[in-house]
Amino acid sequence: MQRIAMLGSGFIGRFYADSLQGQRSRDKIVSIYSRREESAKKFAEDYQVDHWTTDMETSIAHPDVTVVCISLPNNLHEAAVNLCCKHKKAVICTKPLGRNAEEAKRMLEAVEKAGIFHGYLEDLVYTPKFLKALQSVKSGALGRILWAKSRETHPGPHSEWFWDKEQAGGGCILDLGCHCVEIARSFIGKDIKPVEVMCWADTQVKPIDAEDHAIGLVKYENGAIGQFEVSWTFRGGLDLRDEVMGSEGTIWLNSFLRTGFDMFTTGKGAEYVAEKAESNTGWLFPVGDELNELGYNHMFADMFRAMEEGREPAESFYDGYVVNAVLDAAYRSAASKQWEPVKLDVWRGQEGVEKMRPQTDYNEQYYLIKEETTHYGAKKLILKDKKTGQIVEQTI
Ligand SMILES: NC(=O)c1ccc[n+]([C@@H]2O[C@H](COP(=O)([O-])OP(=O)(O)OC[C@H]3O[C@@H](n4cnc5c(N)ncnc54)[C@H](O)[C@@H]3O)[C@@H](O)[C@H]2O)c1
Repeated sequence: MQRIAMLGSGFIGRFYADSLQGQRSRDKIVSIYSRREESAKKFAEDYQVDHWTTDMETSIAHPDVTVVCISLPNNLHEAAVNLCCKHKKAVICTKPLGRNAEEAKRMLEAVEKAGIFHGYLEDLVYTPKFLKALQSVKSGALGRILWAKSRETHPGPHSEWFWDKEQAGGGCILDLGCHCVEIARSFIGKDIKPVEVMCWADTQVKPIDAEDHAIGLVKYENGAIGQFEVSWTFRGGLDLRDEVMGSEGTIWLNSFLRTGFDMFTTGKGAEYVAEKAESNTGWLFPVGDELNELGYNHMFADMFRAMEEGREPAESFYDGYVVNAVLDAAYRSAASKQWEPVKLDVWRGQEGVEKMRPQTDYNEQYYLIKEETTHYGAKKLILKDKKTGQIVEQTI
């Protein structure tokens, strides 16, 4: 059983609390820190938390607390992590880990120096669909992974601090791109180095300094390509989609707007439909169990099991740092309009991985380019002669 100090009583703090204390869980929030007394008290009441405070350190240092969960705005993550190090408390931190790689690296170094457990709360690599897809990728069902795209777009975040570049650290690239980068990186292989990023970003709709729409390509050392599509200006709800293309197969995931649950209502008795849903009348796309569909349940299970088994969780501060480093390169690329290198002072994966080679053996003489059965019943082979390089066609 884990006894949690929750830092922050807002949007994600409540989602986390619903997951942590849902379904007869053994784990319990024992202390809540919130900036305002009324919010701390309300959260304590809603989740039957014994201790509430408006002083962050008091919550972290509380003797009952075994693990601290950071659910605060991005600019407060580092200060909270440092207090966990000071009090030698295990820490799990929401995404993005830092506002940039420099901040994330300092956090990684601090937790490792303090010797405390650290987990990075990237829920979207714990969704049931993602976990099953990753298992298929790892078993080789898709062959070599060539391209992995992840898209997260919605009509914009729910609190003022997100829209302030200083507090948030960026716009939708940082806020949503962090999910997408980790999803693509997981499919391609977390031990494969991301090397370069090309990114377009613009502020198309919202009156803010940060970007509200961006598309980026992340090149990996083995030749695979990751792609992210992010927006705070998308209309129609929360669009969470991933696509994976391998030499032997394909995966398409739709995690939110199409989960197989379509509903029509005239609006009578209209209520909450799903996160960032823009409408509660007409044809709707509700989500059966958001906590599970968004990965929170599997994420906390992995975090706490890892703590209890004395191992690292699937997502640690190191992963948060790598993601921040990729996103820093995306920001540099959006400004320079060039491919920008990913600067990784700390890299723990493979080094010098060779680029994937395109040739597929057919027999001693030929490589196979393509085989196809046509509508008129012919089975065709397109082959390349290994010695001469000539491309030939055979009908069998
Ligand atoms: N899927 C996800 O993993 C996910 C989703 C949403 C948000 N987040 C992350 O969670 C963190 C919090 O986001 P949120 O959506 O809960 O925001 P929120 O605004 O709903 O809640 C933030 C909480 O921090 C408190 N707070 C705000 N400013 C503060 C300050 N200056 N000092 C002390 N406390 C302050 C607020 O009172 C509130 O309790 C962010 O890092 C965000 O990126 C993650």
